[in-house]
Amino acid sequence: MKKATILFLPVLLLLIFACSETQPVDPVSSPLYGEKFRPQFHFSPPANWMNDPNGMVYLDGEYHLFYQYYPDSTVWGPMHWGHAVSRDLVHWENLPIALYPDKNGWIFSGSAVIDHRNSSGLGSDTNPAMIAIFTYHDPVGEKEGRNDFQTQGIAYSLDKGRSWTVYEENPVLDNPGIKDFRDPKVMWYDDGNGNGKWIMSLAVLDKIDFYSSQNLLDWTFESDFNPDWAAYGGVWECPDLFPLTAEDGTEKWILFVSIEPGGPQGGSATQYFVGNFDGKTFTSESTETLWLDYGADNYAGVTWANVPESDGRRLFIGWMSNWQYAQIVPTDPWRSAMTLPRTLDLVKVDDGYLVASRPIREIEELRMESNTLSESSKEFQNELIEAILYPDQQNFKIRISNDNGETVSIEKSGEELTFDRRQSGRIDFSPEFPADHHAPLNGIEVESVRIFIDRSSIEIFVNEGELVMTELVFPNSPFTKISLEGFGESNTLHYLKSIW
Ligand code: FRU
Repeated sequence: MKKATILFLPVLLLLIFACSETQPVDPVSSPLYGEKFRPQFHFSPPANWMNDPNGMVYLDGEYHLFYQYYPDSTVWGPMHWGHAVSRDLVHWENLPIALYPDKNGWIFSGSAVIDHRNSSGLGSDTNPAMIAIFTYHDPVGEKEGRNDFQTQGIAYSLDKGRSWTVYEENPVLDNPGIKDFRDPKVMWYDDGNGNGKWIMSLAVLDKIDFYSSQNLLDWTFESDFNPDWAAYGGVWECPDLFPLTAEDGTEKWILFVSIEPGGPQGGSATQYFVGNFDGKTFTSESTETLWLDYGADNYAGVTWANVPESDGRRLFIGWMSNWQYAQIVPTDPWRSAMTLPRTLDLVKVDDGYLVASRPIREIEELRMESNTLSESSKEFQNELIEAILYPDQQNFKIRISNDNGETVSIEKSGEELTFDRRQSGRIDFSPEFPADHHAPLNGIEVESVRIFIDRSSIEIFVNEGELVMTELVFPNSPFTKISLEGFGESNTLHYLKSIW
């Protein structure tokens, strides 16, 4: 740190403290972000509880990330929308809370759009509104034993998400008497003939309902979706509907549905469907459950709205935790982080299509030093790691360990990839946490394994995201060693720098 910075630090801290009511928290000059398990290249809130990513929208060079936030505790409670922005999806600036509970209830998950056509009348043609569409959860109604305590509301911002006005006539969509009626994800649907409408995907108990609107204020029911072969181990949450185009030009519509519990590793996970959407109805072409991520810790993820066509990517982020233990993981003064942002691509496979989740290319900005990893075991000189490994055997094994003998094993054996975190460090906080997780390869020939190690997470991308496992780990000291069996000699190890 430069001398001048050291001298001015106390003054800076005082200033930040004095302005903390209205000013963003500046993590660079705050003592936060240095804690033992604190993610160094994943987004986490400065303090307190976070769950689902919400309202992700791009505007004028900024990627907005709102999130389920409880500012008074490190466990879940009355929900607000926290807020951060990034210009590169890698470095984040924390901003003040965007949405607070109001007379209609707590602010549950939802989405945001830019109303370019001023269809709502809430902005203007020259300054289109950023509009958040979210679920109100009324705790009073819930306590009274009613069924209609979740409704949909909106709020808008005319200054790039910095200040928000709650729509006076909320809710915009009333509850028909179904307890679980939430998580609106809204997109503009263009029928290709110059006509369009807003489409809302909504999780309604264990199905997805689609509603449409011309103005974001009045909504009409279109159809619902709940094929009998889908995964129904728990309630359906946080849907997302969007088109993706494969390399051969084929376009498919993808529907994400998070489910809790009932995921492949127990607890929370996201299933998806590949099919068509005609502006009214979603039809699935896939006929069995597809999972976006086979790890235990990627939930409630959805994609960014309004990404410029010149960029063209479908960008995703998920909540890197699992409701099984999210509220008792050993982190303080914050709880939860987001996954690495990912680009979603449609990939043709033998019997249809899959959605690959690839780490965003911007993450490469964090590489400081790169080494060829040719030997079978290597000590790290850095705690933040990206390893790109090329197997030369059918089966392989990767062990990541620290000086305390705490170990994570990643193994391919036959048609399965396993992630074993039973000896990974702090595991005693929940009986569900220490486990070995199995992922079926479903015919994928493993060509590469890319691994990101942060202080409390490991993400594995097989063949650049055709199979993904996102997993939390809490080693008592940083991992310092990698051992390989079944790999060639031209693997790469990148040392990454912290984003904070
Ligand atoms: C998913 C979820 C959503 C809900 C939010 C409440 O994790 O349960 O369905 O809107 O969290 O915080």
